[in-house]
Amino acid sequence: MITDFQDWTKGCQTRIEDFLQKLLPAQDQPPTNLHGAMRYAVLEGGKRVRPLLSFAAGELSGADEERVTVVATAVELIHAYSLVHDDLPCMDNDILRRGKYTCHVEYDEATALLVGDSLQSLAFELLTQHCLADSPQTQLKMIGHLARAAGSRGMAGGQAVDLASVGKTLSLVELEFMHNHKTGALIHVAVMLGAHCGKNLSNAQLESVDRFSKCIGLAFQVVDDLLDAEATTATLGKTAGKDAKNNKPTYVSILGISQARDLANELQHDAYEALKDFGSTAKRLRQVTDFIIQRKF
Ligand code: IPE
Ligand code: IPE
Ligand code: MG
Ligand code: MG
Ligand code: MG
Repeated sequence: MITDFQDWTKGCQTRIEDFLQKLLPAQDQPPTNLHGAMRYAVLEGGKRVRPLLSFAAGELSGADEERVTVVATAVELIHAYSLVHDDLPCMDNDILRRGKYTCHVEYDEATALLVGDSLQSLAFELLTQHCLADSPQTQLKMIGHLARAAGSRGMAGGQAVDLASVGKTLSLVELEFMHNHKTGALIHVAVMLGAHCGKNLSNAQLESVDRFSKCIGLAFQVVDDLLDAEATTATLGKTAGKDAKNNKPTYVSILGISQARDLANELQHDAYEALKDFGSTAKRLRQVTDFIIQRKF
């Protein structure tokens, strides 16, 4: 039986897929190798969780679907770039991603670097080409939020901490800092941008959305750590057991499986708490939260 949530998810994913198909330069447009590699890294893969969060958050503010499609696509482009770089030999050195060879294996390392650079630029170019909010000031603020979330005070900074932490035992505070940055920052901004596409929310409402997205951003990486330890390569579409092999400090290595699972459940509870004043407009956000906590891949 197809549930209402599966139906909604499919609709969002199709919208993103179609938009990306048209947005990414055609494979036969020079430089053909780079454009082919960009399409390889982005299309037909991934759960598209960040876009799902943007669409779900857009429901809080009655956001226009076309606006949300644009911001969700921009976040997904940055995410796809982060994966291409994350898999490079100088970072996690992975050969499998989304059920196929990683970009640098299928192409080469230099191309994978340029794919990351180009996807990031394309994300920001896209955000300048559409109306995303009711006022230009809000739109500029949104673009600034994404820039910050991707950079050294966000995702890239978290990746730097991740690489510097190999072989070390981190305190829980340090581990949380790393996860909030490398993964939480993009999840957080996916939610906030979706919400900003619609009518203005009150400061109290924005604070609740902010709290929600921080919980779910951290929870996402806690579950990623759990899946790395517990799932198989076949279900994940990426190499399982890599964190232990690469000597990465994770919630599993620091807390163990059972306490890491407890933490994910606590964060799910806190995420729900943060949404309590939204009533039925937060229905999709609650469903995506459950998906993030319970997912098997
Ligand atoms: C994997 O993200 C990398 C992390 C930030 C944990 P996803 O699990 O969202 O990967 P895709 O997009 O579905 O492949
Ligand atoms: C990835 O974390 C975070 C980013 C890509 C920014 P991981 O290294 O744990 O992601 P996977 O497990 O390779 O997808
Ligand atoms: Mg990594
Ligand atoms: Mg990795
Ligand atoms: Mg991982």
